Amino acid sequence: GGFVACTFKRGIDYINVPTSLLAMVDASVGGKTGVDLGTLKNQVGIISNPKMVLVDPWFLGSLPVAQLRSGYAEMLKHGLIADQSYWQELNKNRYDDLNGVGRLIHHSIEIKNKVVLEDPREDHARKALNFGHTLGHAIESHFMNKTVDLQLLHGEAIAIGMILATYLSQEICGLAKDQTIQITHGIFQYYEKINFTNKDIEDIVDLLKYDKKNSHGQIYFVLLKEIGKPIIDKKATNDLIFNAFDFYKNFSK
Ligand SMILES: NC(=O)c1ccc[n+]([C@@H]2O[C@H](COP(=O)([O-])OP(=O)(O)OC[C@H]3O[C@@H](n4cnc5c(N)ncnc54)[C@H](O)[C@@H]3O)[C@@H](O)[C@H]2O)c1
Ligand SMILES: [Zn+2]
Repeated sequence: GGFVACTFKRGIDYINVPTSLLAMVDASVGGKTGVDLGTLKNQVGIISNPKMVLVDPWFLGSLPVAQLRSGYAEMLKHGLIADQSYWQELNKNRYDDLNGVGRLIHHSIEIKNKVVLEDPREDHARKALNFGHTLGHAIESHFMNKTVDLQLLHGEAIAIGMILATYLSQEICGLAKDQTIQITHGIFQYYEKINFTNKDIEDIVDLLKYDKKNSHGQIYFVLLKEIGKPIIDKKATNDLIFNAFDFYKNFSK
């Protein structure tokens, strides 16, 4: 909707009224609007802020549970990149428990808003919001080509991407092993393990080159030094990415 508003007649004002958890904590804030090209995510888009964002958690009462779980991944991401105690709090909570969800949504929006105001055009700090998204988007695109029962919701793909990025963080940025395990357990308590074949993994690594955050053929990741402390623009070799999938496959939940 935002993309249509800001391209129709070269742009008209609009208000975002998100009705899904994902849209409340992520899509409605920050001014990024765009559309997918085929299975490639967000290839055409523009940054333009709504006049207002109106969030009412009442809408979530009718949202399918899988959609709540999908949105929750972005909230977990907010904890991981900005606030260790928020991450711990989310871990004690259930994504389908709507009591008190308004306060959590508020905190997530605060985290996202702070990052976005600091760096609206994603030159530095805002990149942290892409934690889990480099591989997550490739995974989402890969499964879009499959039958409906194999497709993943955005947050479900991002949850996998965050586990893979956590392993890369341990190997590249010295994230402590106990934090790697804590994050992976934390995510797996909500998200089923997906079965990746070697062919799936090869195709996913191949798709990374379409990520629009890449420059000059180089793929960059957001990784963690510790929970709440992201590091942007880190490179990872393909070998390490394959190892990350091994870590995901072999982790006992
Ligand atoms: N701009 C950004 O920064 C950003 C970030 C993340 C995602 N996105 C984009 O935003 C979109 C995701 O938004 P979304 O998750 O709201 O998708 P969506 O609008 O497709 O909603 C998901 C599903 O939930 C249903 N639904 C929504 N609200 C409901 C409610 N209150 N009760 C019952 N059913 C309800 C919808 O009909 C749909 O079937 C995607 O296109 C994604 O690419 C943008
Ligand atoms: Zn996302």
